[in-house]
Amino acid sequence: MSFILGRRVHKAEINGQTITVQPDETLLDAAHRQDINIPSICRVGGCGTCKCKLKSGKVDELTETAYLLSEKEIADGFILACQSRLRSDVKIELDREGAIDGPLVNGVIVDALPLSGAGKVLKNKLRESYKDLLTVDMAESA
Ligand code: FES
Repeated sequence: MSFILGRRVHKAEINGQTITVQPDETLLDAAHRQDINIPSICRVGGCGTCKCKLKSGKVDELTETAYLLSEKEIADGFILACQSRLRSDVKIELDREGAIDGPLVNGVIVDALPLSGAGKVLKNKLRESYKDLLTVDMAESA
């Protein structure tokens, strides 16, 4: 059992894969650090892309999610990975449709065509990695 400043390091099982989550990081950051791709765009609780289902365990939510998730989603246990820090070990169910398996990659987009599913996830990862270098809004070009 590990502690940082009195808070525990927890484990998150995401679709059967187990990762460790430091007390000061979100579920999303921990997943990406360990090459589990939870789709994300804004990383600040504004888009809902990182929505996943908390099957067991407890999280602290950094922001109010009620404006983004429906009452039914909240009642069904959905959380935003980018806004969740673990209070216990958790089990997470991630809808894998559109997700990319394997390690995250860096790259440069030289052209863009209309995309769906996994292509949108990859585009968002590339946009995030190269946001300082982009000269066009990729959302408009897709
Ligand atoms: S990445 Fe946008 S709400 Fe989490």
